[in-house]
Amino acid sequence: MEVIDTNFLRKSLGKFSTGVTIVTSIDGDGIPIGMTVNSFSSVSLDPALVLWCIDKKQPSYDAFMVGKGYAVNILSKDQSDLCYKFSSQSHDKFENVNWKISENGFPLIENSLAWFDCKKWNYYSGGDHQILVGEITSFNSSDLKPLTFWNGQIS
Ligand SMILES: Cc1cc2nc3c(=O)[nH]c(=O)nc-3n(C[C@H](O)[C@H](O)[C@H](O)COP(=O)(O)O)c2cc1C
Repeated sequence: MEVIDTNFLRKSLGKFSTGVTIVTSIDGDGIPIGMTVNSFSSVSLDPALVLWCIDKKQPSYDAFMVGKGYAVNILSKDQSDLCYKFSSQSHDKFENVNWKISENGFPLIENSLAWFDCKKWNYYSGGDHQILVGEITSFNSSDLKPLTFWNGQIS
């Protein structure tokens, strides 16, 4: 089999433009966790399913695995500061962030473009990532403009 150039593969995959989300949950001690994610995708309308993928090496990987689900917050155009904040390994990512708790107990970030409160449906191994399929139990959206990610840049 041809040897894959991982850097060029990452660059090539980055030619697909996406939105930017912050996926949140609660760890075993009840502390909010969250990370910037662009691997989010819709899966099914009935039942209402979505997915995202987490690198198995992420510091918060174990916490997301034991959780009962997650919330997806789609970022609006003026929330680039949150994109940077939640893609760092800061200890208190939620400091100075306005958020509230969802019905399922996960952080919902104020003024996001849309949010989806999800219960774990099924999680699957996908190579060096884990695919987390969740069932939407409640959601909301607004008419704000989206933050986008393309070619390694957000805009
Ligand atoms: C635009 C963007 C999209 C990202 N998407 C993902 C993703 O889909 N899955 C993932 O595991 N990490 C993704 N990351 C990296 C994580 O946000 C980053 O490693 C974060 O620090 C992980 O959180 P943790 O350190 O609390 O575990 C993305 C980063 C950026 C800037």
